[in-house]
Amino acid sequence: MSYDPGPRFLGSLVLVTGAAHGIGRACVEWFAAEGARVVVADLDIETAREVVEALGGSGQEHLAVEVDVTEDGSVRACVEAASDHLGGIDVLVNVAGGGIPNKDFESTGDDMWARAMELNLMGTVRSIRASLPHLRRSTRHPAIVSVSSVNALVALGGEPYSAAKLGLVSLTRGLAVELGPAGIRVNAVAPGTIRSRVWDNQEGGADRMLPLYPLGRVGEPDDIAGAVTFLASRDASWITGHTLPVDGGLLTGHRQV
Ligand SMILES: NC(=O)c1ccc[n+]([C@@H]2O[C@H](COP(=O)([O-])OP(=O)(O)OC[C@H]3O[C@@H](n4cnc5c(N)ncnc54)[C@H](O)[C@@H]3O)[C@@H](O)[C@H]2O)c1
Repeated sequence: MSYDPGPRFLGSLVLVTGAAHGIGRACVEWFAAEGARVVVADLDIETAREVVEALGGSGQEHLAVEVDVTEDGSVRACVEAASDHLGGIDVLVNVAGGGIPNKDFESTGDDMWARAMELNLMGTVRSIRASLPHLRRSTRHPAIVSVSSVNALVALGGEPYSAAKLGLVSLTRGLAVELGPAGIRVNAVAPGTIRSRVWDNQEGGADRMLPLYPLGRVGEPDDIAGAVTFLASRDASWITGHTLPVDGGLLTGHRQV
């Protein structure tokens, strides 16, 4: 039996984008708690530094790096800084992304579509492309996990965002096949409503979505961190190419009306 109950990421080198808030921050905390050294990469560098400080430790393990995933040069510089600090990259987690304030389809112009694609699809494309040379050199079960959305899998409005998130599902599948022979696993999660700051300005907050959820609550960032760390871990060593809904049952169906 090869079951190993010990910390799953002891000595692993992990880069998380969009790591200063919400889901990304929770992922950082879970990886660090299981022994990883983490680079906390975000547009909001001040909060990224606070995240690193809050992790404690000797101050040498983790690093905050500023990145704008919509700029290729910025992503390349971030990945190099991460690899220099950590001495390589074993796990890349693509969290940076978010909704674009568009209204109805007809009044959403090309600029909004381009913004949604740049942030949610191309940001992850750039991060993976820049990280691949390092992941290929990894000897610690290299893995990529990206954060898509249930919006990719069921119509919930916001077409530009939803289409970009569905692009991640396809990217995940394609790269899993391409990178499988190199031993690099590629997976994604599709979160339902997660209580993060993005819901703060909406009337009723995240809880207004509660009736959609068979499990009777909306999600928390930790719900996603649990799934992301599972997919990045040795526990998922024969899982690749999947987008795992983490959705409190949303996609499964509705109670009778
Ligand atoms: N909250 C939800 O209900 C929900 C549901 C499904 C999917 N998601 C996805 O989860 C991810 C995280 O969302 P969240 O709810 O934690 O939101 P959040 O706003 O709390 O976190 C997003 C993080 O990305 C960073 N970021 C934004 N633009 C960036 C850029 N150009 N370059 C680098 N970093 C950038 C932000 O500073 C922030 O730290 C996003 O990809 C989002 O689309 C969220």
